[in-house]
Amino acid sequence: MKQTDYLVIGSGIAGLTYALKMADRFPNKKITVVTKASADETNTKYAQGGIAGVTDFENDSFEKHINDTLIAGDGLCNPKVVEIVVKEGVERISELINWGAQFDKKDDGEYALGMEGGHSEYRILHHKDVTGKEMERVLIEKVKEYPNIEFIKHWFVIELITQHHLGYLVTKATPDIQCYGVYALNTTNNQIEKILAGTTLLATGGNGQVYRSTTNPSIATGDGVAMVYRAKGRIENMEFIQFHPTALYEPGIGGQAFLITEAVRGDGGILRNKKGEAFMERYDDRKDLAPRDIVARAIDSEMKINGTEYVYLDCRHMDKDKFLHHFPNIFEKCLSIGIDVSQQMIPVAPAAHYSCGGIKTDEWGKTSIRNLFAAGECASTGLHGANRLASNSLLEAMVFGHRAFEEAAKNHTELLAPDLIPDWDTTGTTDPREMILITQSLKELQLLMSDYVGIVRTNVRLERAMKRLDLLWTETEQLYQTTKLSPQLGELRNMISVAYLIVKGAQFRKESRGLHFNTDYPEKSKLLQNIVL
Ligand code: FAD
Ligand code: SIN
Repeated sequence: MKQTDYLVIGSGIAGLTYALKMADRFPNKKITVVTKASADETNTKYAQGGIAGVTDFENDSFEKHINDTLIAGDGLCNPKVVEIVVKEGVERISELINWGAQFDKKDDGEYALGMEGGHSEYRILHHKDVTGKEMERVLIEKVKEYPNIEFIKHWFVIELITQHHLGYLVTKATPDIQCYGVYALNTTNNQIEKILAGTTLLATGGNGQVYRSTTNPSIATGDGVAMVYRAKGRIENMEFIQFHPTALYEPGIGGQAFLITEAVRGDGGILRNKKGEAFMERYDDRKDLAPRDIVARAIDSEMKINGTEYVYLDCRHMDKDKFLHHFPNIFEKCLSIGIDVSQQMIPVAPAAHYSCGGIKTDEWGKTSIRNLFAAGECASTGLHGANRLASNSLLEAMVFGHRAFEEAAKNHTELLAPDLIPDWDTTGTTDPREMILITQSLKELQLLMSDYVGIVRTNVRLERAMKRLDLLWTETEQLYQTTKLSPQLGELRNMISVAYLIVKGAQFRKESRGLHFNTDYPEKSKLLQNIVL
């Protein structure tokens, strides 16, 4: 068993921002960061395009960034939260720069700002095409300066500890659910241990792995959302899954798809269909730089019309030296599979990329469960509404990592007496006999979500998805009750819950808005509604 003052689940930008600030404010308190993987294996590490923020006050303004965010969010952003993130984001970016983050500059020493879909000005700070890697590097280096931060790797957090574990009946109607810490599987010795904490922050990232093709790494299985849902906390707007328009299409390669950043289109890349037509002008006046929901749907439509599994991103007309300077990683990756981007077009297809909804929080990162905060991609703060503006998520994660810290730092919560909380009960479970029971269910889950709950949805598809999820859930619960827990089983269970929440949200939303498009309800409803489950 472990005990800590401030527990942080997740070592991406949200978790580490919070942990660093807490450690700095309270040198005598213990901050424990837990991750189920290596320290830097996070969505954060893979971020390419950069971080949006107003730094060029001659051409840009807070109002413009706010307006772009609200337009992308299609009516569902919380305007107050948008203003908070845009304005406070600039301070957070400065902090990161002071901690050592290097963003590309022009010859005159000014930042080389990038452009992405939905932005009316150049405002994306970036480090080549590997911005996230640079940010994660800086954060992990900084953590080493704080002896009061304990960093636990390869522990899979399974469950939030609440009154339920003390023997009380906890339902959605229970007025004051509290979090006392977590149960976690130490994968080095396969023991499930309690970590008791005064305050817990969930910074568990996204859920792209619920789909067959995703830009997200394997850690992105929606664990935080599923844990809060099981603990009877509030989850919001899960139907808004953002598909990135341009993941590299590689036939026969499953799992994480390599991203071709939107910044390539910001620098002049043009989408073309099989016939070589620049089709975006038929879909939106902003052409290739329309918001992501519009571009992804346009690509999906072109693929269906032409019977192809991809479209092309044409960069042949772009200055090769400039391309190499801004996108060295993409150039190398394409070359490694035989594509010289200055000579050939890049085959691309949409892939699940970002979860706009998640654990519902207030403007200080507080969830509906006492002593439990959430920040980063797992949270639904109200910033993104029905569709996230490109490069706003790293910004949001830093702003809410900071805000959650400020709020949590106001009170010091005493730990519950350890003997009140039972050990994890493994009675009746045996070692798993065949992994196929897990791997096959995972494949089925990813396939059904991609085919029935993807970019374009219908009532019948959603109904079918729900029926199949029911079966997967029943079979997986049986396995969970009888088998020793592994991260793979825990993740499958979480992903089925997350898929259920996505489908349920999609069924409740009787309209098409932002990232949710249902051909049975093609119009927007007049009622602006967040769907809370
Ligand atoms: P993450 O960085 O994903 O960290 C999650 C952490 O939680 C990990 O440490 C993980 O191990 C841990 N964890 C999860 N579950 C458990 C568990 N059960 N037990 C223990 N630990 C657990 N956004 C932008 O703003 N700009 C961009 O340019 C950009 N590009 C992107 C490119 C790609 C390819 C991808 C995938 C995303 C991109 N995004 C971008 C989105 C952005 O990177 C993420 O939204 C953001 O980094 C999420 O940060 P986070 O701290 O919330 O979570
Ligand atoms: C990209 O670089 O295209 C991704 C940016 C983002 O997801 O915000």
